[in-house]
Amino acid sequence: MFTVFLQKFLDLDILLYQSDFISYLESQKVSREPKNLYEPIEYILQLGGKRIRPMLTLIAADVFSNDYQRALPAALAVEVFHNFTLVHDDIMDDAPLRRGKETVHEKWNINTGILSGDAMLILAYQYFENYESTVFQKLAKLFSKTALEVCDGQQLDVDFETRNDVTIDEYIKMITLKTSVLVAAALKMGAIVAKADEEQAQHLYDYGLNLGIAFQLQDDYLDTFGDSKSFGKQVGGDIIENKKTFLYLKALELANNTDKENLLRLYNEKQKNNTEKIATVSNIFKENNIPQETHKLIEYYTNKSFESLEHLTITSKQKEGLRVFGKNLMSRKV
Ligand code: IPE
Ligand code: IPE
Ligand code: MG
Ligand code: MG
Ligand code: MG
Repeated sequence: MFTVFLQKFLDLDILLYQSDFISYLESQKVSREPKNLYEPIEYILQLGGKRIRPMLTLIAADVFSNDYQRALPAALAVEVFHNFTLVHDDIMDDAPLRRGKETVHEKWNINTGILSGDAMLILAYQYFENYESTVFQKLAKLFSKTALEVCDGQQLDVDFETRNDVTIDEYIKMITLKTSVLVAAALKMGAIVAKADEEQAQHLYDYGLNLGIAFQLQDDYLDTFGDSKSFGKQVGGDIIENKKTFLYLKALELANNTDKENLLRLYNEKQKNNTEKIATVSNIFKENNIPQETHKLIEYYTNKSFESLEHLTITSKQKEGLRVFGKNLMSRKV
């Protein structure tokens, strides 16, 4: 289990948020027909995952209103949307494993993954109908903007697979779009439900934006260097797919000419022998101190996220709680 949820830190009762969220999720089960549309939705949502985004929505509502339960529908919207992106992402990335189990398109088929994913996107929107019109409008507006940005990021991620001139700045922009904006929006949605003022909500959003960058960097690190037993996804998947991650881009910057030529050649097309490709690439990464470089950048963005906390008019214990949350993400193994 993800360590952050094993502790009750400071003023934030993460365990309580989590159990309330799971109960709410259970109570909203959609056992509808046609089965081939709804069973995959049930399947992916029951597989769990860390539930980071809904936790953030509840935390935000709690710090601004002391009534986190009101944010449960918004938290569920965020989690269902996130799971939708995973189902489609796994098709796009040709991924066999998710949370230690078969991906939806492997267990069923690609068409099922597409349509169940589409249905999840609609379901996510429907949860906003639990709110009165002013709150509904704000949530829907932020959500639409965010969802479109995630699409932009996902398209860039795919475009980068076949480009060999991607810069680290472009990579940061891409992960901000595909990952961070949702982490940030999850927090801001909690603030919106709690009717926090716009400026405060924006500071929380900025905290999430930088935390999300650190989060995706850690995801990219684990994709190559994670433990295949606990990671729950195919280790080396990014290497197989020629993903232009920070690991790859930094290695190109630091490696000698031989390593650099090898990397460029191996990432130029899909290889027949992936085991050999993964071994060669991860060795080049290790020899060029890429794990250390990646951790440095994760720490940089995590610390940058903490700067936004300074502007929040919440208790110092609550700020510390958000810092502990960020630090826990930094050392996660799943
Ligand atoms: C995976 O997100 C997709 C990324 C943005 C890296 P998570 O790592 O939050 O996945 P789950 O929900 O915990 O499985
Ligand atoms: C996914 O990035 C971001 C979204 C799902 C939008 P990745 O492709 O790295 O996520 P994982 O590693 O498959 O979870
Ligand atoms: Mg993926
Ligand atoms: Mg992807
Ligand atoms: Mg990944």
